[in-house]
Amino acid sequence: MLICPSILSADFANLQAALETIRNADWAHVDVMDGHFVPNLTIGPPVVTSLAKVSPLPLDCHLMIDDPDRWAPDYVEAGAAMVTFHVEGARDPVATARSIRERGARAGISVKPGTPWAPYATLLPEVDIVLVMTVEPGFGGQSFMADMMPKVAQVREDIRSAGRDVWVQVDGGVSPDTIGTCVRAGANAFVAGSAVFSGDAAANVDLLRELAVAAG
Ligand code: DX5
Ligand code: ZN
Repeated sequence: MLICPSILSADFANLQAALETIRNADWAHVDVMDGHFVPNLTIGPPVVTSLAKVSPLPLDCHLMIDDPDRWAPDYVEAGAAMVTFHVEGARDPVATARSIRERGARAGISVKPGTPWAPYATLLPEVDIVLVMTVEPGFGGQSFMADMMPKVAQVREDIRSAGRDVWVQVDGGVSPDTIGTCVRAGANAFVAGSAVFSGDAAANVDLLRELAVAAG
């Protein structure tokens, strides 16, 4: 069970301090948005480079950008340990996943709520993470889409039948109220932004982990 706080909900003027408050988590989730693939603009490789120098946690970069084929390798070079890109924006997901792995990071693919999973199941040998979005990507603080749970279960089933070891990550609206549902569907990596960075972040991480373990 991996707890991955999204620093999208942290104070962007104090990201180093935010990372310190979530030392008890597993990965720091970094939402990269380009203002084109999604209608929001966040951070790019120079900030990831700086974060990697001070982060106590591995950086889990979630690229919500056009042309990830072109840009994904830059995030590995910047110091990300995990780089996940959206299949909807990728021209050649196999080549992109390989370019991430060749540079020494874990590769992930992500699907938006409206994107079916089945056409992408053949990519499983190429990736370490499948990220199923449980909100429309672009913003923190949205409501969890419980109707994505069958997709999570199908991803988990395909991983099992392929005999592979791949994390199933969920992102969007994950909270103490919804994390158990995600576990029961087959997720084992949980991104949470607003549920972590409201109040005591470390205590929120501990609570999410306890609830995930209890539901597993
Ligand atoms: C949304 C981002 C998420 C976001 C989650 O596009 O990918 O990582 O930060 O925020 P919450 O947990 O508040 O839904
Ligand atoms: Zn994200």
